[in-house]
Amino acid sequence: MSYPQQEWLPAAALSAAATAHGTPCYVYSADRISANQRRLSDAFTRAGGVAEFHYAVKANSNLEILRLLCAGGAGFDVVSGGEMLAALRAGAAPADIVFAGVGKRDDELVAALDAHIGWINVESAQELRVLSDLASARSVCQRVALRINPGVDPHTHAYLATGKAASKFGLPTDEALALVAARMQFPGVSIEGLHVHNGSTITDTAVFADSARIMLALVARCRALGAPIEHLDMGGGFGVPYLPGQPSADIDGIARTLVGIARDANVRLKFEPGRYFVADAAALVTRVLFTKESGGKRFAIIDAAMNDLIRPALYGAVHHIAALAPRNGAAALHEVVGPVCESGDFLGHDVALPPVQRGDLLVVGHVGAYGRSMASNYNLRPRAAEVLLEGAGSTGMRLIRPRESLEDLL
Ligand code: LLP
Repeated sequence: MSYPQQEWLPAAALSAAATAHGTPCYVYSADRISANQRRLSDAFTRAGGVAEFHYAVKANSNLEILRLLCAGGAGFDVVSGGEMLAALRAGAAPADIVFAGVGKRDDELVAALDAHIGWINVESAQELRVLSDLASARSVCQRVALRINPGVDPHTHAYLATGKAASKFGLPTDEALALVAARMQFPGVSIEGLHVHNGSTITDTAVFADSARIMLALVARCRALGAPIEHLDMGGGFGVPYLPGQPSADIDGIARTLVGIARDANVRLKFEPGRYFVADAAALVTRVLFTKESGGKRFAIIDAAMNDLIRPALYGAVHHIAALAPRNGAAALHEVVGPVCESGDFLGHDVALPPVQRGDLLVVGHVGAYGRSMASNYNLRPRAAEVLLEGAGSTGMRLIRPRESLEDLL
């Protein structure tokens, strides 16, 4: 297979980024991120409805990418004090920030209250108690949504399924209803929304539709208890193709179904997409350090590793890998592996590559989501540089986060 598969990342620009900033290097297309953002909101407009989008910062928390999405109209879904600070620093209005997560620290809740963020999604009775007390002590009333565990199987990788009954996330419906019934005992919070996130990489529209119906039945029961539930946050999880021929979430189908359901129930729809906005907007450019053959396998040992992109090792994710400037000759299967001292350190198994030599550049595709944001310093390796292509024809190139130095690590 040869590059390009992501035509918004021109080969010349990838190679220029590697020359200017070294490898491994994440290269993003500003145009593509904005196009992804527009495509999603256009689908809801076409379906005759409106939805608010809170970008899931965990997918990629680079400040410049947050700024780009903020300028395009996104709010932010954050899961830590760090992500909240990043969203604020990127220019988000506090009211457009939702703080979610199963284990929030007291100091993070206090920071959220002090910043007057729009929503806190609460995942347990204890959290509601702690938050209400902290808010009351500050004489404020925080708007919250209860995160529900809908007990729906999203048919995705086990680590990416969050809405199954035995998952750590969210409240069982009966417990959520009990909290709504007892809401007067929590004067520091106002329960005005329900939240659900079914999991990630979902391409089956029925998963969204089924869980929306479960949620709306619950909205009706909460309203019957007198609670003013006006918002339904359906989480993220829109699947995107990583390889040719893979399915994508049917954005128009999801929009039509959910807009219809929401209109009937008179609720405002929210989503928290992460991957959909950024996954296909980036590639990881890496250099071949050595080649060798061993045990009947051909190895390309590259300067990117599992610490730079952990998705293959952690989820068995398959990313497209290609030579940036393919040499002539028959393609052969390669194990594409990094320098980290673990057998699980691979970026691709059985990757068809043309002849590769020491010094060649390889491109790992569709790494914009959960790539650099999940990178670590394992083996005391500095995390990769990040470069944004922008302007007409992606001719502009801006370093949006330098490679870490060894001094940063020490
Ligand atoms: N909302 C909540 C509550 C979430 O937990 C997540 C993702 C999202 C929204 C955004 O989901 P997305 O639209 O990006 O699928 N590291 C994994 C993905 C973990 C997702 C965790 N939660 C990966 O590399 O595939």
